[in-house]
Amino acid sequence: MNFNNSYESLEELKEEALKCNVCHLREGCKGVVFGEGDPKADVMFVGEGPGAREDELQRPFVGRAGQLLTDMISSIDFKREDVYITNAVKCRPPNNRTPTLKEMETCLPILRQQFRLIKPKILVLLGSAALKGLLDPKAKITKVRGIWHEKKDIPIMPTYHPAFLLRNPPKKKESWEDLQEIKRLYDKLSSGEEF
Ligand code: URA
Repeated sequence: MNFNNSYESLEELKEEALKCNVCHLREGCKGVVFGEGDPKADVMFVGEGPGAREDELQRPFVGRAGQLLTDMISSIDFKREDVYITNAVKCRPPNNRTPTLKEMETCLPILRQQFRLIKPKILVLLGSAALKGLLDPKAKITKVRGIWHEKKDIPIMPTYHPAFLLRNPPKKKESWEDLQEIKRLYDKLSSGEEF
């Protein structure tokens, strides 16, 4: 399978991605969880990988962490449908383990194409795995969260994963600050100013 620049729409890409069996993760899950949301979203959220509930329903972030993500999105005046939500790996890793760097790298061509077609103005990385797999394998989420990064002219904000926040509620304060910063930049970019 070759996820190159030939796809003209997200639907076309999705059709192909749902058939993907490039790596071993596909053998252990029910199906590929491609992602969902506005195909022209300005803000894109990327988690680590589908869990059991996501695999069951073939939708990203629909379990408990997903409910919190929906609340986080609402807290900055977006609806879930206004943004795009996906994961670094599209197939559920066995026993909900964290995807490896290799697995994220193998799945990256799909995310790259999603990115090319959606063209978000802001990318939000949820948690340590997405941060390491997509930005810097050595980065620590506790150190870099809340700080804008940039890759190919796209502002990237790493922040805590909602599942981590469920286990560590006091960290919600920092997460809220990160979300405010995302909203602040979104408003700035929407008014035509530069990053
Ligand atoms: N955790 C993730 O990283 N992604 C999901 O889709 C659900 C839980």
